[in-house]
Amino acid sequence: MSAPSGEAKHICIVGGGPGGLAALKMIMDTPQYKDGLWQATVFEEREKIGGVWVPAPPVDDPPVTPLYDSLTTNLPHPIMCYESFLFPPSTPLFPPAATVEKYLSDYAAHFNLTPHIRLQTQVKSVDWLPDVQKWKVQVQAHGILEEPLYDLLIVANGHYRLPRYPTTPGLDAWRAAGKATHSTWYRRPEHMGNTVLVVGGGPSGTDISAEMRTVAHTIIHSMSNPPPHKPPLKIQDLDGGRFKIRGRVAAFGDVKEGRVVFQDGSEEAGIDHCILATGYQHHDPFLPPTLLRVEVPPPVPPLPPMLYNSTYHIFPVARHLFPLSQSFPPSRIAFLGLLKGIAPLPVMEAQIRATLAAFADPSILNTETEAAGIVERYEHLRARLGAEASESHIAAAWHVFAPQMQFDYRDELHELIGCKERVPKWVREVYDKRDVLRAEWRELERIGEAEEWVRGVGEGGVEEWVQLMRKVCKRAEERPKEEVKDGLLSIKCSV
Ligand SMILES: Cc1cc2nc3c(=O)[nH]c(=O)nc-3n(C[C@H](O)[C@H](O)[C@H](O)COP(=O)(O)OP(=O)(O)OC[C@H]3O[C@@H](n4cnc5c(N)ncnc54)[C@H](O)[C@@H]3O)c2cc1C
Ligand SMILES: NC(=O)c1ccc[n+]([C@@H]2O[C@H](COP(=O)([O-])OP(=O)(O)OC[C@H]3O[C@@H](n4cnc5c(N)ncnc54)[C@H](OP(=O)(O)O)[C@@H]3O)[C@@H](O)[C@H]2O)c1
Repeated sequence: MSAPSGEAKHICIVGGGPGGLAALKMIMDTPQYKDGLWQATVFEEREKIGGVWVPAPPVDDPPVTPLYDSLTTNLPHPIMCYESFLFPPSTPLFPPAATVEKYLSDYAAHFNLTPHIRLQTQVKSVDWLPDVQKWKVQVQAHGILEEPLYDLLIVANGHYRLPRYPTTPGLDAWRAAGKATHSTWYRRPEHMGNTVLVVGGGPSGTDISAEMRTVAHTIIHSMSNPPPHKPPLKIQDLDGGRFKIRGRVAAFGDVKEGRVVFQDGSEEAGIDHCILATGYQHHDPFLPPTLLRVEVPPPVPPLPPMLYNSTYHIFPVARHLFPLSQSFPPSRIAFLGLLKGIAPLPVMEAQIRATLAAFADPSILNTETEAAGIVERYEHLRARLGAEASESHIAAAWHVFAPQMQFDYRDELHELIGCKERVPKWVREVYDKRDVLRAEWRELERIGEAEEWVRGVGEGGVEEWVQLMRKVCKRAEERPKEEVKDGLLSIKCSV
């Protein structure tokens, strides 16, 4: 971080979830803040901080969070947490959402963030004023509108709110009849009829299809890539036909008969309800079409002169962080946490460090080099997905990282700003074992030993968590391999 520049600057942070909170905390750590030069405000539209981790009944359209009652983390907390703030000693390795919510409010209290957070205040619109080189941010609280000006805008509004619905023929009629709903409305298993179809093989679809087995006679789980099955079967019918794994739905048929046809030509009828766990769209309604065009961008090169939201990605954004648009300078705006397939909290900490460094010293962002980096990723994805892949396919893959990429990414951001910190080896090692660890932790919980395993761990610092996770992995390796239930291999889930 360079020395204070001597100018007063105001920073606007959109959203009081994990990203926005970390941005505020890290701004307050800067010499500029301590010298009274920088000021920051978080605007959060909900009544509490914590983002998706704050539960809410599904009354809004769409609901303010997709959080369901049984949700536990799918990463062990020592690699999920902020690097600057561990979960408390004795916290179960894969805690429930309420523990994460408490962790985030403890973080805000510990670093005294609350005075700089305006709750129940929505960012309605944002515009760049080139003449004064500032953002005009329109916010609304309790019906009153204000339009303060800011020097830097940090967008941390999350991307798990607006549901993505498949374009499958016939689905609209099912939705209109209330017979197909998105998983964002799901909270707990409730009787929705004898036969329920769950679409989507991501973490939500995997959890929901498992939970709904407790209240429905038959669950049909449709996914893009059904897991391998032994012995090989064309159609996977488990649990005596009460749990059926299928590929994608090709068409939704007669609503009353609850009929669907799958891409392999097989059919099912008598479906009482369909839950669409088909993911979410990027949605930044406060950015006007003059700054962010909601459509798939044209092929590159050249890079388009303005910013696009394809609903799968924001483009072109250098390092998945700094938008490159001719409408505003890249060092004055940052999008946090656009990436998928990552541990978002520590990634966002590295992103914030880079954002604040570029804000203090815009020369660290060489726009030509950054633009070349974007073109390089485009060409890499084009080569990987093939010439026949559409621009939407490229968009869908754009922010998705393979497991270890996030660690190189964090290191590269630190390298860019001359920060010596690198991701510790144990983090990379544990990340690769996350699914083994989660399965073993569930086993320890099932046999009632988890509490004993974790008691007092963490009192002596992070190294104790590393040792615990290694011990849990060792237990998993040494346990005699049970028959995989129904021949179905476990479905991997990652953030
Ligand atoms: C079901 C589910 C389970 C998950 N499980 C895990 C997990 O196990 N481990 C993990 O690490 N991550 C998990 N994640 C990822 C999760 O998104 C991150 O942990 C984290 O919440 C991202 O923080 P964020 O601040 O980017 O976004 P969010 O948590 O979405 O917070 C964004 C905030 O911005 C506010 N906001 C949005 N628009 C405006 C506006 N215009 N004005 C004012 N405020 C606004 C929202 O109200 C919200 O509070 C999960 C996500 C989901 C949906
Ligand atoms: N802590 C936890 O245990 C937990 C639980 C739930 C969610 N989460 C997190 O919440 C976020 C959202 O998860 P999510 O599962 O809701 O969304 P997601 O990760 O985007 O997954 C959506 C899934 O739907 C599939 N899909 C889309 N259209 C389909 C169609 N027509 N037919 C069949 N499949 C279709 C997608 O497959 P394709 O990609 O092949 O299209 C994808 O696998 C993620 O960050 C996740 O990690 C965490």
